[in-house]
Amino acid sequence: MAFPQAFLDELIARNPIEDVVGQYVQLKRSGANYFGLCPFHGEKTASFSVAPNKQMYYCFGCHKGGGVINFIMEIESLSYPDAVRFLAQRVNLEVPDDREYESRYREQERLWALCKDAARFFHDQLKSGDGQPARAYLLRRGLDWNTVSRFGIGFAPDGWRSLADAMEQKGYTRAELLAADLAVSKEKNGRTNFYDKFRNRVIFPLIDIRGNVVGFAGRTLDPDGKPKYINSGETLIFQKRKFLYAMNIVKKSKQGRIILCEGPLDVIACHQFGFDCAVASQGTALTEEQVNIISKYVDQVVMTYDSDQAGQNATQRAIDMFTKAGVKVKILRLHDAKDPDEFLHKFGADPFAVLLQGSENQADYRLLSIQGQYNLTVDEQRVEFSHKAAELISTFSNSVEREIYADRAAKAAGISKDAMLLEVGKAYKKRQYREKRQKEKRDLSPAAAIQPKFREIRYDNLRSARAEENVLAQVLVEPAQFDLAPSLTGESFSVPVLGRAYDALRQRHKDGRTVSLAVLEGFTADEMAHLSAVTGKMDRVAGDDAFRDCVSIIQEEHDKKNQSDSETDLLALQSRLKSKKGYGGK
Ligand code: UTP
Ligand code: MN
Repeated sequence: MAFPQAFLDELIARNPIEDVVGQYVQLKRSGANYFGLCPFHGEKTASFSVAPNKQMYYCFGCHKGGGVINFIMEIESLSYPDAVRFLAQRVNLEVPDDREYESRYREQERLWALCKDAARFFHDQLKSGDGQPARAYLLRRGLDWNTVSRFGIGFAPDGWRSLADAMEQKGYTRAELLAADLAVSKEKNGRTNFYDKFRNRVIFPLIDIRGNVVGFAGRTLDPDGKPKYINSGETLIFQKRKFLYAMNIVKKSKQGRIILCEGPLDVIACHQFGFDCAVASQGTALTEEQVNIISKYVDQVVMTYDSDQAGQNATQRAIDMFTKAGVKVKILRLHDAKDPDEFLHKFGADPFAVLLQGSENQADYRLLSIQGQYNLTVDEQRVEFSHKAAELISTFSNSVEREIYADRAAKAAGISKDAMLLEVGKAYKKRQYREKRQKEKRDLSPAAAIQPKFREIRYDNLRSARAEENVLAQVLVEPAQFDLAPSLTGESFSVPVLGRAYDALRQRHKDGRTVSLAVLEGFTADEMAHLSAVTGKMDRVAGDDAFRDCVSIIQEEHDKKNQSDSETDLLALQSRLKSKKGYGGK
């Protein structure tokens, strides 16, 4: 039986694999994943892994793997539909008929469209005559027009029904306006008052990671206005705990870390000043879901919360959450400014970059902690310290920084700065050589290493297969990368099962569903296990260029194969024709 996809999505979402597996296996977290003793074969060391960010499990010992449904099928010996019913029952979810879920999905689509039109309306209002005070406000806050349009900032006019009227004219209903939390309906003296939620406010559209407008934040123009911000409440399309402001932009950033701010204006200031990796959680304390999203993109977060007590408590809590998810946290301490927005407009980008740099490598701290390990009155230990310090300093990418710390380390070791810099240079070369050797070794590693563990899955073209594995793993962590390869389909894949998975995921992406292997139907247990193993190798987005490289390898190898296929076809045709007496060459 085929279950409606939307139902399966919900089933998977409400049965996190780590919880379900956790009821059978004692799991321990290590970095982003969990490990435990495999329930499917006897073992003493934990080779059974669960990846919450992909919702997949895999055993490195017996090579079983898959999503939560596969796990239940295997461990409870249930058929696929029975495993689905088992999981539905576990969370009191009714197994539906198709229609109900389809109509819910259509409702979502209507709300996305409505919010997009509303954002456009607010933006047009900002540009209009009525928007003048809001434009002046934004200007006063130092925003340039480029930034304003990049973030789609708008203005909600000071009327009771400006937006509602405009949207009703476009064919949206009052019920839809209420469902999107754009309007309020209140009973008073036996009459129903229906009016706009956002009035006379600067509007920041809340755009989700896929680029849909899902809600709004409105700030008062009045310095003492209360409340300062009004935010959309939870709706069918907006879940605060999963939302990160500007994540749709930040996911494309190449900075390798994320700056976590408190509010939209801090994020906007960061972006305007060239720091394109700032996000904010929207008016709530940081959630597990937000931490998991961030951990998919980077392994380092810089926090810039307020320095007041509430901010400090929130910071401490966030550090614990990120550390558990395998993300390093650095704290940015701003002086003479309460938040990044104020700091950037007051002091500019350079001092901010210096602070970020400092918060990144913590050079002072690390040099001192090396120093503390040696007794620098003993010659041998001074030599040893010099080596270790040089190794550290050689990792600094900034030459001024290398100079400064070489000098400091030299003084501590009682040697000349030049001698220290010489050591730093040597350490640098040594590391480069080591990295090069490692890369060569990886590239030359025996092809067998990547042959699948399952007999029915064979790799004929290793170059293409490796690229196919990468592409598949990448679209799982970053579905937007599908859009980088609009013409790539599973047909070009050399490994049919990888191609089928790619097509199925691509279709889910097109339909606006979560891109996850855990919900795919029509794959055997071995195939699921293989997909789990293959995609489990990668946790972070590798970047657009790396993705494009893989796509062109797949296409190149596919073209080669087509060519040689058609050559063999031609040869076969020729010989067949030749064997027909009286034709051609004879
Ligand atoms: P802040 O009071 O620090 O505001 O609240 P801010 O971000 O510096 O904004 P500006 O610079 O004064 O314009 C931090 C965040 O808490 C949420 C908002 O998301 C805000 O950005 N907040 C604050 C609300 O949701 N409602 C409020 O009434 C106040
Ligand atoms: Mn502020």
